[in-house]
Amino acid sequence: MSDLKVLIVCLGNICRSPMGEAVLRDVARKRGLSNIVVDSCGTAAYHAGEEPDDRTISTCKKHQIPIEHSARQIQTSDFTHFTHILAADESNLRNLERVKPKNSTAQICLWGSYLDNKPIADPYYGGMNGFEHVYQQCLALSDAFLDGVVGDNR
Ligand code: 4NP
Repeated sequence: MSDLKVLIVCLGNICRSPMGEAVLRDVARKRGLSNIVVDSCGTAAYHAGEEPDDRTISTCKKHQIPIEHSARQIQTSDFTHFTHILAADESNLRNLERVKPKNSTAQICLWGSYLDNKPIADPYYGGMNGFEHVYQQCLALSDAFLDGVVGDNR
């Protein structure tokens, strides 16, 4: 398998996509995959430089998933640096298509397209149970993505 470079994208890059990044990296590590790079970003810059939301950090801690990220906005070079750009919801996907440069080489899609076509709903204005739901989705979507791209090597 050639190297995989995966970018998970949401709106603010403090709730869903840093969790997705942490979970996908952990799932890949547990499968023994070493040739995968995982990062995350937001379509917006409101939270650039911030750590993940406390609720994302505590949900990852609860599931013993290491998480460390500084929020950043999508940049033009991401579209040629990454092999796969996975959007959390349709609004993020539309925004990616809007800013995509002509020379983009990444495969850009809804992360959910590897499983059930469902979006990862924004948990920002809700409670902790929304973050647990995001975690469960990220776990299932990480397995579905790796099954689809690498093959089921578990
Ligand atoms: P995220 O969640 O896109 O999963 O990081 C959000 C974070 C911040 C805001 C919206 C969604 N916000 O409006 O500030």
